[in-house]
Amino acid sequence: MKMVWHLAGLLLASGAMILSASPATMPSCTLQPLTENRDTKVLYTTSKVTSGCTSRGPEDLDVHVLYLNTSKLSILQLNLNVAAAARNRKTVFVLNSATYAFWKVNMEDHQLPLSFAVSNGHINATGAEINSIKPTSSSHDLLAWAKAEYGGVSSFAELETPESINFHVGKVLSSNEDCVPGRDFDAKQYLEASFASHNIRSCLPPGGHHEKEAHILWLKQPPPESGKQEVGVDIKVTCRAGTSATLPEMLLVLKSHDRLLWSFGQMPGTIKLAVSGKYSLKMFNSPELEGEQLPASEEGLIQAAHGKDFASIASFTEVPSAKSLTLELVQDCVGSTKQAVSKPPTEAPSLIKMIQNLVTECQPWRCLDNTMEIALPKDSLKHLQSLLQVSEVTLQDASCKTTDNSTHFVLKSLLESCSTAVEGGVLAKNKLVFSLAPLTEKVTVPFECTLPEKVFLQLYPTPDFSSTQTTVIRVNEAIYVQLSLRTANKEAEVEVEDCSLYTSHQASPQLLISSRKPQSYAVKFLTSPSPKIHRFSFVYKVAGEQWSVAPATLVCRLWVNSESQGPHEFESVLEVTLKNPNIPIRGQELKIGTVLGITFGAFLIGVLLTGALWYIYSHTRSTAKRPPVSADPPASESGSTNPSIGSTQSTPCSTSSMA
Ligand SMILES: *[C@@H]1O[C@H](CO)[C@@H](O)[C@H](O)[C@H]1NC(C)=O
Ligand SMILES: *[C@@H]1O[C@H](CO)[C@@H](O)[C@H](O)[C@H]1NC(C)=O
Ligand SMILES: *[C@@H]1O[C@H](CO)[C@@H](O)[C@H](O)[C@H]1NC(C)=O
Repeated sequence: MKMVWHLAGLLLASGAMILSASPATMPSCTLQPLTENRDTKVLYTTSKVTSGCTSRGPEDLDVHVLYLNTSKLSILQLNLNVAAAARNRKTVFVLNSATYAFWKVNMEDHQLPLSFAVSNGHINATGAEINSIKPTSSSHDLLAWAKAEYGGVSSFAELETPESINFHVGKVLSSNEDCVPGRDFDAKQYLEASFASHNIRSCLPPGGHHEKEAHILWLKQPPPESGKQEVGVDIKVTCRAGTSATLPEMLLVLKSHDRLLWSFGQMPGTIKLAVSGKYSLKMFNSPELEGEQLPASEEGLIQAAHGKDFASIASFTEVPSAKSLTLELVQDCVGSTKQAVSKPPTEAPSLIKMIQNLVTECQPWRCLDNTMEIALPKDSLKHLQSLLQVSEVTLQDASCKTTDNSTHFVLKSLLESCSTAVEGGVLAKNKLVFSLAPLTEKVTVPFECTLPEKVFLQLYPTPDFSSTQTTVIRVNEAIYVQLSLRTANKEAEVEVEDCSLYTSHQASPQLLISSRKPQSYAVKFLTSPSPKIHRFSFVYKVAGEQWSVAPATLVCRLWVNSESQGPHEFESVLEVTLKNPNIPIRGQELKIGTVLGITFGAFLIGVLLTGALWYIYSHTRSTAKRPPVSADPPASESGSTNPSIGSTQSTPCSTSSMA
């Protein structure tokens, strides 16, 4: 083992020797921010927070306040380690962030009586009590609120956009009376956060491909008062495509104070190092090795890389403080492209869950009588904008695309289309499918909505009620009537209160059913397949009337008792045509002129008849003491009904607090 690290040390040292032996003069360069670059990442963990404090807190409660000074949507993990002694202690986390945050809580011990007071964010914490609080835009206000609300706080920390936070719950943190935040607070007693640097810069000389690249990390934390400080370093290289990396020649420059020991873990085989202070190579179980003197300036560090013959500064990152550092590089690799890695950005699976939650909470769907409507406010997705771009929203059937009306994604579709499934006649089901660049996977949000309660009045020519419906009633022939209620309510009861046929040639309507009883021997109640369906048949009889075709209107009232609405009435109206087959339609021998006259006459008579019918209809309605219903004349063609009673499923989209 000793030999091995000797060898490694030798390699590194000799590399450095050769390099420093050829100091080249290179053009000075200006560092530019590396934006939109996912190929170089610098991750670090630290316990230093922007500001923080601890205190004794309230008597019987731990209160931890976390404020994120974020500038974009963040998704972060809160990992809780619970001290054995604190199992039964009540703990409250007060969480707030400047921009919307998704908190995922991981907790080994689900017994802890834990609650969260969250604002401007969404939290997933199984088994915990979750309360929404008013968002505040300052950490000072949040701390003041928490002190007033709980009578003190145990800890407070303000951080900038961490990716995850490890939190030790149940430690006695301080005996201070009050929690007064100090800047650059060291929260190492209880908290460690990991960050991805958003401040990576680079300086690449003109001219495309660079076979040699330097990465410079400057860790700017002050030296400890005594002893040395150890910082773990990992260098991870992954392939964008292909399998085996043929890396460019690489130099890693690490600069910090001289009492810092860099402890290298994972690293590629061929990297060159230029480090300040001391270092050790864990994989070789090496002792501490001497680093070199490096200047404490941006220009000086760049020159140091240039001096080692590395003209391209692929990344230059200043890190305020760290317990561990990870440099992640994504490279084009050669070899089989079978397992092409085009991984979406970090945490794709949970991000997808988050999107699903966001949309589900927003409920942009609505079921109407025979359509389904989508109206998704674009605002509701605004928290995703920094991460993802919505390129398309469709239903399950991808040809049913929503359109962007500048504020909403909207779509109207018939229930029979777009692969909408209607379960049990009342529950419409479909999926919203989102294409979100740069995710390669589509995000699917299944949804369902209940169709509004509605009465269907249908006529059938045969007693099996399965042939096609009709609106023609033939004189002296039985016609079969079905009244059915569409409702999600399983307990709903339905009775046919009364039914009448209003004709143009009779002054008063023909009562078919009144007070739930057949009113003529020609009406027969039939067995109904379910309590929500009523069936009967009747025969319309006339004697010696001289018409062959006449309009008529079938009006039925239904008494319904449903849980949601209580007892109430529905009225159903169906326009029908009476046919008297015994009177032949004469007219074959008529001339064109008379046909026109008759048509005109028929039209006039039709108008008059409709007027008379309407008069009769409205009068009988009022004398029969009907409940107040729409005063519109009977609707034609659709074969039904009064306005649907709305069990629409839409709620306004809340884009702020959700928990
Ligand atoms: C929050 O972050 C912004 C940008 O990084 C910074 O300008 C501002 O001072 C921070 N606010 C506080 C209270 O630290
Ligand atoms: C919430 O947490 C539970 C349990 O850990 C997990 O099954 C679920 O998928 C999480 N939901 C989201 C949206 O991450
Ligand atoms: C877009 O459609 C929604 C839902 O129909 C509507 O509320 C909104 O006013 C429309 N926006 C514009 C700009 O027309």
